Amino acid sequence: MSEKKAAGGLQGVVAGQSAISTVGVGGIGLNYRGYDINDLAYKCNFEEVTYLLLKGHLPNQQQLDELRTLISQKRQIPCKLKQILETLPKESHPMDIMRTVASLVGILEPETKPGQEYEISIRLISLFGPALLYWYHYSNSGIKINENTGKDSIAENFLKLYHLKSEIDPLVVKTFDVSLILYAEHDFAASTFAARVTVSTLSDFYSGITTAIGTLRGPLHGGANEAAMQYLEPLRSIQQADQFLNSRYQSKQLIMGFGHRVYKKEDPRSPIIKDFSLQLSKTANGDPTLLAVSQHIEKRMIEEKKIYPNLDFYSASAYKQCGVPTPMFTAIFVISRMTGWGGHLIEQRSNNKLMRPVSDYTGPAKKQFVPIEMRNKANL
Ligand code: COA
Repeated sequence: MSEKKAAGGLQGVVAGQSAISTVGVGGIGLNYRGYDINDLAYKCNFEEVTYLLLKGHLPNQQQLDELRTLISQKRQIPCKLKQILETLPKESHPMDIMRTVASLVGILEPETKPGQEYEISIRLISLFGPALLYWYHYSNSGIKINENTGKDSIAENFLKLYHLKSEIDPLVVKTFDVSLILYAEHDFAASTFAARVTVSTLSDFYSGITTAIGTLRGPLHGGANEAAMQYLEPLRSIQQADQFLNSRYQSKQLIMGFGHRVYKKEDPRSPIIKDFSLQLSKTANGDPTLLAVSQHIEKRMIEEKKIYPNLDFYSASAYKQCGVPTPMFTAIFVISRMTGWGGHLIEQRSNNKLMRPVSDYTGPAKKQFVPIEMRNKANL
């Protein structure tokens, strides 16, 4: 760790080295393993990005085909996991299901030897969606879904299993796939850093992922997409959007989906997901009012507060128009970021050193010990 004293929230502290992504280096941009996020989002699919993040280079056609086959095999939900999912309450938050699935797979299919990181990462990337949706349908309507949808992509598999349909609008699939690419990796984000700390103790891979899911959940990190949709949903006019913003300004409350620790101007992922959200808004199932309200809030936040939307803001309207329920938004982020977490845990283990910083002590000076029978308010 660098010598400088940590500012609040470790802001600006260089906490290690990584060759996976550059976030806002030189003030702009996002690159995964050197590739610009725009190229990846518009010219790749999520499976190619998964391979890139975990293996370090883009796959050729044969490698991609092999990965797709592996994903189709690894989405099989173990019987024991199904039995446990069937017992979980329908009121559970999807993020609790994701954290529990990671932990349970760690029991049912433990890491037993070195070199299993890629296989376990693909297992979790493939299984998270089907397991979540198995629980969702079973707990809501008693339906036991068949998770096997052949060689479908992660995006198609998720959408088909959620909607219980065999065909999904290609623009919805593309939007979902792009969102997975955009959420896949972001350097030492809180959840990734937390996961690296966990495996730096030589703990197992699943413990690292469980740590990461718990950290991602908060609304200052991954939970912001869900929190953004919660306030956007009731706003059905520009006037209501203005009332909402004015009251938030007055009470000095945060507007979720805006601001970023690293990007102090535009989040490079935001215009990409906005593009897809706008495209969806022009389709039969789109919600042009939601987009008009979102654009109005964006305009005012930039003009009046100089605070820009982050990826979560337009992801909220994009997911909503894909027909996905709001409580699942952050769980989808888990499926995507599993690729980045996997890459980081492989990297951490390749050159491990226990992560154990020190604090700047602000407590009392050394005190004289007082035995319990002599303690009173004055000498505590
Ligand atoms: N709404 C309103 N004000 C915001 C804001 C937001 N979303 N984000 C930052 N600000 C304000 C802060 O209140 C602070 O104002 P002040 O200087 O008057 O106290 C100023 O901008 C600087 O913010 P700060 O919290 O110091 O920046 P940070 O780097 O610590 O915070 C976030 C980054 C992401 C935690 C913060 O922008 C935030 O809480 N955003 C909302 C949650 C969110 O969308 N998270 C997803 C991130 S990808």
